[in-house]
Amino acid sequence: MRVVVLYATREGHTRRIAERIADDLKARKVDVDVYNVKTLSEPIDWSVYATACVAASVHLGHHESEMIAFARRCRTDLERLDTALVSVTLSQAGAEDAHRSESERQAAAADAQRMVDVFVHETGWQPAHVLSVAGALAYSEYNFVVRFVMKRIARQQGAPTDTSRSYVFTDWHRLDQFVNDLVEVAQGRVAR
Ligand SMILES: Cc1cc2nc3c(=O)[nH]c(=O)nc-3n(C[C@H](O)[C@H](O)[C@H](O)COP(=O)(O)O)c2cc1C
Repeated sequence: MRVVVLYATREGHTRRIAERIADDLKARKVDVDVYNVKTLSEPIDWSVYATACVAASVHLGHHESEMIAFARRCRTDLERLDTALVSVTLSQAGAEDAHRSESERQAAAADAQRMVDVFVHETGWQPAHVLSVAGALAYSEYNFVVRFVMKRIARQQGAPTDTSRSYVFTDWHRLDQFVNDLVEVAQGRVAR
């Protein structure tokens, strides 16, 4: 069984998520190739894969534009495989934040889901499995203006405002579990 992990990132956190997915797959003895869709130099040979896992972060309500273009272009190829979308947002961090009220968490979860729905609408590609993953508040990666804006948003939402460091909200265990479930599904398909 071979899996392709395709990712798009702006500040680098989704690369770490893609690498974690790859490590999880390798730990289950699954062969894996990882590609940044922004720097893909050759077409993908889809015939060697059983499963594709697509990971992309969200900025200003949309997933990375290169991933939207990629998923549009390769929709038919993706649809032949078992596919998963890992959507990386700070809304999901809000949805998982135990310090927020139930209604705030529900609103954040609805926001994360809305961005997945927008991606599906923009690309026409419907992944079989979807996981919303909490991303990072990467102050150290931002320029002055973005840092200023993100700090203001963070203050409004009760998120950390110390811009001298970055914050990672990703629930790695939940991601590992998702990948394990994907492998179970894929191995079940192979065994049938
Ligand atoms: C300028 C900017 C805009 C963002 N817009 C959103 C957004 O609309 N919704 C959201 O949930 N997260 C938003 N985020 C948070 C990112 O999705 C989060 O930081 C993610 O971890 C970025 O992943 P990356 O490092 O792979 O690009 C934004 C972050 C920045 C810096």
